[in-house]
Amino acid sequence: MLRTHYSSEITEELNGKRVKVAGWVQEVKDLGGIKFVWIRDREGIVQVTAPKKRVSQEIFKLIPKLNSEDVVAVEGIVNFTPKAKLGFEIIPEKFEIISRAQTPLPLDPTGKVKAELDTRLDNRFMDVRNPKVMAIFKIRSNVFRAVREFFYNEGFIEIHTPKIIATATEGGTELFPMRYFENDAFLAQSPQLYKQMMMATGLDKVFEIAPIFRAEEHNTTRHLNEAWSIDAEMAFIENEEEVMDLLEKLVVYTIKYVRENNEKELKILEFELEEPKQPFPKITYDKALEILADLGKEIPWGEDIDTEGEKLLGKYMKENEGVDLYFIYRYPSEAKPFYIMKYDDKPEICRAFDLEYRGIEISSGGQREHRHDILVEQIKEKGLNPESFEFYLKAFRYGMPPHGGFGLGAERLIMRMLDIGNIREVILFPRDRRRLVP
Ligand code: ATP
Ligand code: AMO
Repeated sequence: MLRTHYSSEITEELNGKRVKVAGWVQEVKDLGGIKFVWIRDREGIVQVTAPKKRVSQEIFKLIPKLNSEDVVAVEGIVNFTPKAKLGFEIIPEKFEIISRAQTPLPLDPTGKVKAELDTRLDNRFMDVRNPKVMAIFKIRSNVFRAVREFFYNEGFIEIHTPKIIATATEGGTELFPMRYFENDAFLAQSPQLYKQMMMATGLDKVFEIAPIFRAEEHNTTRHLNEAWSIDAEMAFIENEEEVMDLLEKLVVYTIKYVRENNEKELKILEFELEEPKQPFPKITYDKALEILADLGKEIPWGEDIDTEGEKLLGKYMKENEGVDLYFIYRYPSEAKPFYIMKYDDKPEICRAFDLEYRGIEISSGGQREHRHDILVEQIKEKGLNPESFEFYLKAFRYGMPPHGGFGLGAERLIMRMLDIGNIREVILFPRDRRRLVP
């Protein structure tokens, strides 16, 4: 390997020892008789110090020729000294330029010179060299790790369902159509129907982490056309609140995991991630409408709570309950998809919920209708044709336990967790209305 140690691994025990470091040239300083190079790697920065008397002529001459962002590899002796800003330096014995960086750079990876988001996304490979941007993706990695760990701990089985499908699940308007040989097909908006069918198998508790594709009409700061969904489905439940409790546990586990394992990254982002207050309050849709009416925002019963309403509610919950995370549940049946179970004694409301994180929905879920004939009726009520759902309905005719689940948007969770205003910041190569490359 060209590297024996990351910058962060150079500790005092290595004083006087030989190491190999490698990375990108962040800065060069030439004081005549002594030259400095700061090299950035994934974990931080190392300082290479080249005093004329202590290094070869060759190295001494090479240093002034370096460009910012050249990739270099240095072998040298570690020297702990209070004179070095980082507490130590490396006196080089070998210094190699491995790959040259052209000038000018498309953006400043140190972040000192601010670049537009578009420029950053067009040059994501360089943008991620910025430690603040890299911190987001290190945290994202741990979010997925925590989620997987959580589900395995809870006895869930990981599944993988098709992303090329024949039927819409979340309504027809947001679909990406495609040709599938001689047939029409779509990219999957959600694993909904497939994860539900798994409830007829006896797998009982399943989860999937996969992209979802939605031809969103608006170009907003919280919608992507390709997003990562964390989906769960569980059987033999008694009510939707059991599903809400699982989701709460998952979100708390994930936030705690990031707090404990990404201290360094949170510091780089200068962000204090608070442990969520539990239990998450559960407020009914009716109560949410009441609160909003008191705040001067009237929403007709039956309609979805719009973006402004969600935001107002988020502010209210923070100010009055001191919480960032809360559920809204018992939605009007007309506002939710056909697969959600209605209350038997009050069919105008249903067993659906949303989880809100500071005024933005991060997850939806509910108890599903598992009784075949009622489900068929609900499909018809939404103006859909049960025949196109035959492959799904069949699974409800041969023994289907009561079940429920949720879909949690990974990018929504991460953007709210880190209080980042634009969802594009938390996915490497966002797909939005205008962006298909890179
Ligand atoms: P879901 O798709 O699960 O319902 P979501 O969080 O993706 O949840 P949408 O349903 O797309 O959100 O939108 C929620 C609300 O925000 C809807 O009432 C919708 O009309 C409104 N909305 C969506 N995009 C915009 C936008 N660009 N400007 C204003 N309002 C919007
Ligand atoms: P829903 O449509 O609410 O529910 O989606 C679930 C969650 O996925 C995320 N999400 C998105 N994130 C970014 N960009 C998008 N365009 C986008 N669309 C959705 C959100 C949202 O809360 N089948 C149900 C889930 C279920 O009932 O199990 C569903 O898809 O965080």
